[in-house]
Amino acid sequence: MTVPRLAEMKRSGEPIVMVTAYDYPSAEVAEEAGVDVVLVGDTAAMVVLGYDSTTPVGMDEMLTMASAVRRGLHTPLLIGDMPFGSYEASNEDAIANAQRFVKEAGCAAVKLERGGPSVDRARAIARSGIPVMGHVGLTPQTASALGGFKAQGRTAEQAAKLAEDALALQAVGCFAIVFEAVPAAVTEALMEKLELPVIGIGAGPATDGQVLVFHDLLGIYGDQVPRFVKRYADLRGEMVTGMRAYAEDVRRGRFPADEHTYSIDPAELDEFRDYLNQESLAGSAWDW
Ligand code: KIV
Repeated sequence: MTVPRLAEMKRSGEPIVMVTAYDYPSAEVAEEAGVDVVLVGDTAAMVVLGYDSTTPVGMDEMLTMASAVRRGLHTPLLIGDMPFGSYEASNEDAIANAQRFVKEAGCAAVKLERGGPSVDRARAIARSGIPVMGHVGLTPQTASALGGFKAQGRTAEQAAKLAEDALALQAVGCFAIVFEAVPAAVTEALMEKLELPVIGIGAGPATDGQVLVFHDLLGIYGDQVPRFVKRYADLRGEMVTGMRAYAEDVRRGRFPADEHTYSIDPAELDEFRDYLNQESLAGSAWDW
């Protein structure tokens, strides 16, 4: 998958499938399922590292996860999500950290959040030669400033601000943009103004593609998920069931069974027993 191919998919109306992944096995799952785009999202802070927001995760942690994803991924476009604090201070910081995603983790592109001050950062990254994806609507890195994890663009004024941000990100060269938690009708109204692929998460069906968080869609994380999540599996339930069965087998002596153990030639075993029975072995324990 390439950036021009995504643009082509938009033009031809072929839906773009994007998902997050944070490690080697989740990358292999995304690869095998045939998704188009994989984002190593800073949602890792919550669904992998257990924080209650996305802000604590740093560049080094993101790079470790992105590198693991790279090793399991061959076909989809791989995007590294720039964590909070890695791009806001200056264009130089933004370019240097975007380059780390490309050089150290093998990402093909990066994503950053918000319009406003991020527009300049997006321009700088794009000009440095790294494809950059925007993200507007609910931007979790600044959720507290937005009044929490809630839908954005629900008043005409908010929707106009969202449109302004999306158009500015398009104008500075973003190759695609995420719309998160935006009323479907606002998305639909905006789509005709946008030439770049729009990927929605809680933004209705009018976008060019959809993205969901790996752990949300497969039911690995949390009992309560946002309204926009559809669960396609209950892997957490499956995992707990499997783990309980293992614990029960160990406690009842049912595991390991013969098929899980290694054998030794009986003659070799006899020789080993003779060795253990030698008198010279007695009392040769280490004198600590
Ligand atoms: O970090 C993330 O997982 C994201 C997606 C929700 C788009 O930004």
